[in-house]
Amino acid sequence: MKKSLTVTTPIFYVNSNPHIGTAHTMILSDFIKRSFKLINYEVNLITGTDEHGEKVAESAQKQSMSPEKFVDEKNIVFKDLAKKLWISYDRFIRTTEIEHKEMVKWIWNDLREKKVIYKDKYRGYYSKQEETFFTEKELIDGKSPNGSEVYFLEQECFFLSMESMELFLEEYLVEKFLIPYEKIPELKFFLRDLRDLCISRNNSSWGINVPGENSTIYVWFDALINYLTVSDFKKTGQWRDNIHVIGKDISRFHCLYWPCLLKHLGIKNMPKVLIHDWWIIKGSKMSKSLGNVIDPLDIIENYGMEVLRFYCIKESLIGHDSSFDFDLMIQDFNSLVVNKFSNLIYRTFKCLEKCCSFFPTQKKFEIELILEKNIENLEVKKYVKNLLNWCDNLNATIDRERIWTKNDKLLEICQEIHSLSKYFIPILPTVENWFNKPKAEILFTRIKQE
Ligand code: MSP
Repeated sequence: MKKSLTVTTPIFYVNSNPHIGTAHTMILSDFIKRSFKLINYEVNLITGTDEHGEKVAESAQKQSMSPEKFVDEKNIVFKDLAKKLWISYDRFIRTTEIEHKEMVKWIWNDLREKKVIYKDKYRGYYSKQEETFFTEKELIDGKSPNGSEVYFLEQECFFLSMESMELFLEEYLVEKFLIPYEKIPELKFFLRDLRDLCISRNNSSWGINVPGENSTIYVWFDALINYLTVSDFKKTGQWRDNIHVIGKDISRFHCLYWPCLLKHLGIKNMPKVLIHDWWIIKGSKMSKSLGNVIDPLDIIENYGMEVLRFYCIKESLIGHDSSFDFDLMIQDFNSLVVNKFSNLIYRTFKCLEKCCSFFPTQKKFEIELILEKNIENLEVKKYVKNLLNWCDNLNATIDRERIWTKNDKLLEICQEIHSLSKYFIPILPTVENWFNKPKAEILFTRIKQE
């Protein structure tokens, strides 16, 4: 029986247009879905938009639009990006959907009954930009640790209890669940200061109402529950194994509060979380005010989605930030995808055409076992490295052994190329067409560098 898995992207805030970070998370998640399919998993990929919250309401107001109309329009832009990147999602969830709102309220009521949601007084700071609460101790020069503006907040509100969760979280914060393991110490550090989470807002109306109250459910409580809305948890009390792909800035929500919420709900199979770092631009953070935001749609239009997909997967950002470098993106595509991979296919199948016909093999090559392990362990960088090394080695063998003079060997090598080409599909999805109809064909051509 096939194992089943759900891969999720974070749901994206719609207050501004998608940027390279949005594209990166989508591409990485799609890579994981497609690669697990290769090892015979039945995989669902879920993406979507996070449409509530103060900053979304404010952006709508700036454009003199109702929040409803604003989110409807923005949602289309995110779906369009997913389509242009060939993201093979099975469900695109919006937090403004009735089904989701009902799920949030249902969970709220359930946790209220279990008394893990309770009312108390909150005194502290809030960052609209990050939609996050901060204590005075956490502020640096009057701003959030990430540098965003905060304002003081004093309100009666609801809290989600984190009482007695330390031991459970200690057990959760291990390599089996969190990738890469280098992120674990930082999360353990936050664990020392774990407080009950404030989960309602009095002065924000664009969101889901707290049942029976005149306040709004905190946008992060609302957003995290999207992962349950898309499952049949309400019917069965279960959910499939999940891999959440996220950026480092949202790891506290996903790796501390989210597992606790799941535990409160009685869910046992905890999600794996794959945390990637950030694209930075010439050493700085991307930001609208610095005018250095990279638009993935421009890259797709100018060079094609596979150039961007290849660069994002190759860099992957797992374990390090990376400077987004247009020249390197094109160089990598030309030298690795065009010269190494595409050329390998063309040169071998062209020779084969001249001497004999091709028939695929069922044989599994040794390198496939290594790639399968890389998939299972979410070792994205190693996977790409092993695949490219395989290309290099095969190109070298072909030259050394003058394969075009040996018909039997040539067929064998073409069979290997055919079999291995499927491992490029998670990175470059159009390779699937060639895999289904292998022949001498130029799959990718060089991009001109300006
Ligand atoms: N809405 C929340 C997520 C809720 S999930 C239940 C959110 N949205 S976001 O649109 O601000 O961010 C979406 C993703 O983009 C996050 O994973 C974030 O880490 C990622 N990126 C934002 N800027 C980035 C870079 N510069 N580089 C790479 N990814 C970064 O957070």
